[in-house]
Amino acid sequence: MKPFDKLAPGERELALALDPAKMPAHIAIIMDGNGRWAKRRGLPRFAGHRAGANRVRSIVENCSDLGVKALTLYAFSAENWKRPRLEIDLLWRLLRIYLRADLEDLQRNNIRLTSIGRVEALPPLAYRELRNTERATENNTGMRLNLAINYSARHEIVDSVNVIIDEARISGRLARLTIDEAAIGRHLYTAGLPEPDLLVRTSGEMRVSNFLLWQIAYAELYVTETFWPDFDRSELLKAILEFQRRERRFGGLAEVPTAIEAADDEVPEDEARLEPEELQAEDHEEIAVSSQ
Ligand code: FPP
Repeated sequence: MKPFDKLAPGERELALALDPAKMPAHIAIIMDGNGRWAKRRGLPRFAGHRAGANRVRSIVENCSDLGVKALTLYAFSAENWKRPRLEIDLLWRLLRIYLRADLEDLQRNNIRLTSIGRVEALPPLAYRELRNTERATENNTGMRLNLAINYSARHEIVDSVNVIIDEARISGRLARLTIDEAAIGRHLYTAGLPEPDLLVRTSGEMRVSNFLLWQIAYAELYVTETFWPDFDRSELLKAILEFQRRERRFGGLAEVPTAIEAADDEVPEDEARLEPEELQAEDHEEIAVSSQ
């Protein structure tokens, strides 16, 4: 974790409260609220997206300084094609400007840029710029900045399964093919990246919007009312602190009971003989008591 140069008032306390040993390895962000940010200021949506692109710049640098290993940003969903043509064109232009203007910063910070999504469908100029940046940064060993562009998690899962089927067909294994979780994981666009530990959504919407559906199975969710262009370093630190306060159990128990506790928990013999209805009645009583 690199020390921050200048900390604004309030940021210092947040930064000091962080536990460097419990940093999320992978943060994924649904950057929402550019339009509302602009509307609130009486500005065109364009201004919101431009402010959003500037925010990308600072958050990428902050995450890299914090030692985050991977940052995935939802820049354009496969459903975003439904927006007006002018807005879509502007988003591609902003992406190109960002990629070109920030290449130097990415190199200086040793950040590797990659993308996920059906990016071949991008307009040629944006596609070319994206591939250039991916190539130019491919040997960087610092944070992985992963842009989700023309991305849909459902497409991703379908694409993954189709690749598995194609590979099996080519190697003559199709008739015996069975697919398991590991095979799907290996063929997702995010293969090789750790699964996100923390999923952030700005601007208050309680949705995951077809983003990394497979990979966020055990991610901690953090939703803030803050619009994306206002999601500054202190907002990022707050999200990470909240993540560090969460108890991650991955479906297990927080603490593994000792052998003695486990033995104490064993169902006593007379209870083991209870009829199913009696057991249910007892369960209800317990719920009624604990919910008071
Ligand atoms: C959601 O805000 C934001 C987007 C659909 C696009 C995100 C794009 C950027 C942040 C800028 C360009 C990206 C890069 C990587 C340089 P919204 O328009 O849906 O906001 P609203 O819900 O308030 O209308």
